[in-house]
Order: sequence, then C-alpha cells, then structure tokens
Amino acid sequence: MSLAAVSRLESKLLLPTYERQPILFVRGRGVYLWDSNGKRYLDFLSGIGVNALGHAHPDIQAVIKRQAGRLIHISNLFFHEYQAELARLLIQISGLDRAFFCNSGTEAWEGALKLARAFARMNNPNSRKPKWRILALENSFHGRTFGALATTEQEKYRAPFAPLVPGVVFVKFNDLADLKRKCDSSVCAVCIETIQGEGGIHPVSREFLELARRLTKQTGALLVLDEIQSGLGRTGRHFAYQHYGVKPDVVTVAKPLASGLPLGAILTTERVARCMHPGLHGTTFGGGPLACAVAIEFLRNERQLLSHVRSLGKYFHAQLTALKAKHSSIQEVRGLGLMQAVELDSQELAKAVVRQLLQEGIIINRTHDTVLRFLPPYVIQKRHVDQVISALNKALAANSAKPAQKKERVPSKRREVHAHA
Ligand SMILES: Cc1ncc(COP(=O)(O)O)c(C=O)c1O
Repeated sequence: MSLAAVSRLESKLLLPTYERQPILFVRGRGVYLWDSNGKRYLDFLSGIGVNALGHAHPDIQAVIKRQAGRLIHISNLFFHEYQAELARLLIQISGLDRAFFCNSGTEAWEGALKLARAFARMNNPNSRKPKWRILALENSFHGRTFGALATTEQEKYRAPFAPLVPGVVFVKFNDLADLKRKCDSSVCAVCIETIQGEGGIHPVSREFLELARRLTKQTGALLVLDEIQSGLGRTGRHFAYQHYGVKPDVVTVAKPLASGLPLGAILTTERVARCMHPGLHGTTFGGGPLACAVAIEFLRNERQLLSHVRSLGKYFHAQLTALKAKHSSIQEVRGLGLMQAVELDSQELAKAVVRQLLQEGIIINRTHDTVLRFLPPYVIQKRHVDQVISALNKALAANSAKPAQKKERVPSKRREVHAHA
C-alpha cells in the first residue's frame, strides 16, 4: 500500500491522536531506516529511545525467531523460563531486590504509584493521618494513564481529562526549599524523572536528588525514580541514578528493555515488596516468554555497550557545544550519554531544523516546543555524529535568518543543569 493510501485510511479509521510525518517506513538495519521510496534515513531517535541496539539486530532477531516458534504467551498463572532470569539480571544491575513486569512505561509507573500507597498503608494500618500524598516535579512526564497523568505536571497533557487522581502535589524543579516545605509526614512517595525527557532533557541536580533521598528516609516516604527514558544504558550507566550515587526505593524502566517488543518493569527493595501479595496487582500480557527472552538478550548487549555510550555521548555533547559557539540561536546544550538536547530560541526554528534534517535523511525530534532531542541507538559511530552535526550546522544557518517568533523562556530555576551534563 502507498503512503497516500495508508494515510487516507488512517485519517478515516484511527482516533486522531498522532500528527505523523509523511513517511512510510518499510525496513530498518542498524542505525538506518528505509522508506517506501527506497530513501535511507539515519535514525537519531530510535523510536523515542526504544531501538537502543538499532534495527534488525542479529542477536535480537535470532531470539525472536527461536522463541516465537516455541512459546509466545502463557499468562501469569503459570511459570516460564525467562521471567526469573530477567529479574535476576535487572536486580544485579540496579542494586534492588525484586521486579514486576508489565507492558509499557505508563503501566510501570501506575504500578509504582500503587506500590507507594500500599507500602504506606502497610506501615500505618490504623493511622488516622494516612500517608497518601505524592510529590512529583514541575515539568514532569510520566505517561498517559490516569495515575501517570496525575503526576505529569505539563498542563497540555492533563487539562482535558480533569479531575485526575487526587493527592498529587508538585514541587518546583531542583528547588531545595520547595521540596523541604512540601515533603512532610503526609507524603508516601517523592517521584522524580532522574533526567526529565519529554520536558526537554533536564537532569535533576545532585543536591536535589540527595535531599529527596534524605527527606524520604526521615519521613518514611519512598523515593520513586522514573528511568523509563533515561535507564538501561541510555546515559552510559545502567541507570542515570548511578551517576549520582543515590539508590531509590523504586525505579521504573521500559522503552529499550525488549528492543521494541512491549515490556516494562518496576524494580524495588525487599522491604517495599512485602506490601504486595497475590491478587493485589497483575497483568495478562506483562512479562511473557517472548518479551522476557528478548530482554535477556538486550541486557547482554547493553552491558557491552556502556563504555561506548559514554565515549560517544561525550563526543556528541562536545560537538553540540562547539556548534553553540557558532549559532546564537542555541540557548543551551544539555544531556548525559546518548540522551542529548539542544535548546533553541524559537519553536519555529526548531520545527524548521527538524523538517530540514528529515528532508536530508536524518531523524531527530522536537520536544517541549524549542528543544531538539537526540536519542540515537547505542551502536552509532563518530561518523554518524559528524553527519548530524554537519546537517545541524547547515540547517541552523539556513533557517536562523528567517524572522522567528520567540517563545517565552522558562524560568531559570527549571534550567539548572546537573554538574555531569
Ligand atoms: C520518563 C517517561 N515516563 C513514562 C513514559 C510513558 O511510557 P509509555 O509511552 O511506554 O507508556 C515515558 C514515555 O515517553 C517517559 O519518557
């Protein structure tokens, strides 16, 4: 079917939730994708951080072929060979004790919120003052389901669906005083994206994360980190919190875990896990044999790529920073490992740059209006970075001269950059 035919059908048959680029992709290999006209694209977005090993990775293909011929799904009423092994690997790299598997990022986050409420209830069974408030951060994004939406601060995602789940209070990003003021004995969880992704790649500050850890220990609340975008090797460590030396009580992961098959996970400590018992939480599909077998293979590869991600990330960050010296339209370069961003001074310019790169066969993405986001596969090489830098240089030069409608700047507190960035 042609692009025109698919697009016509979708416009009639699907809920109008997406504004897709007019491209019909038909295959991928490594860092490249090909469209229906045979045009090749360098993929610097990886399906929003999912295809971390690139497309059609031979190890992943082999596991899918083998496992699809044996067993795809059995439900969580029975055992299969791979869930415990995958849990063992995730526990080993996270320093936590137990795992729960689900199907997506938002579902992992929902489970983490339920865990926080159940843990608080278990520890205060007869309290007349239950711990039930959840602190989340301004500019956060945790997903689209109701609990996740309630902890997602950005108004554009929330407003049409109000009223949302009650009990959520937002703390100003990296604002120590605001966190101290709000983290009282009524709080059951402090929720943080270690690096805000959809919000424009903002790493939380070391001081803020350390304070959140201290306060939650004092009050008995849980420190819950969302590493759905930043986790599993994206920043050059297994988890972004490992750059900070802070250990959470709960962490959520998803995106790259099963290399494109839907799989998410909640990881937590033994102490927290005690609040769960059979029947309290569950899923039909989550943690099936196919997805888990693939995730085991993904983690085997991820381990071997961490130092490559760190060195390519440093190189990419340095090249982007050098570009900033040439283009006054670049306000800031932020990021860790292969989670990088360039903040421009206008959304029109950001749109034009993404469009021009796409015409040249390079896929990047715009988030938070003015931010160019880069989430390439972990297997990129220097030459791919050089190609993107050269295309960005050209696109910024060609489009900056045009009159640009300035976007109101976000207050400076939100823009504090972590020492590692
Ligand atoms: C930090 C973070 N949390 C949660 C989600 C939601 O994940 P999903 O789209 O798999 O539900 C995302 C998705 O972009 C994310 O970046």
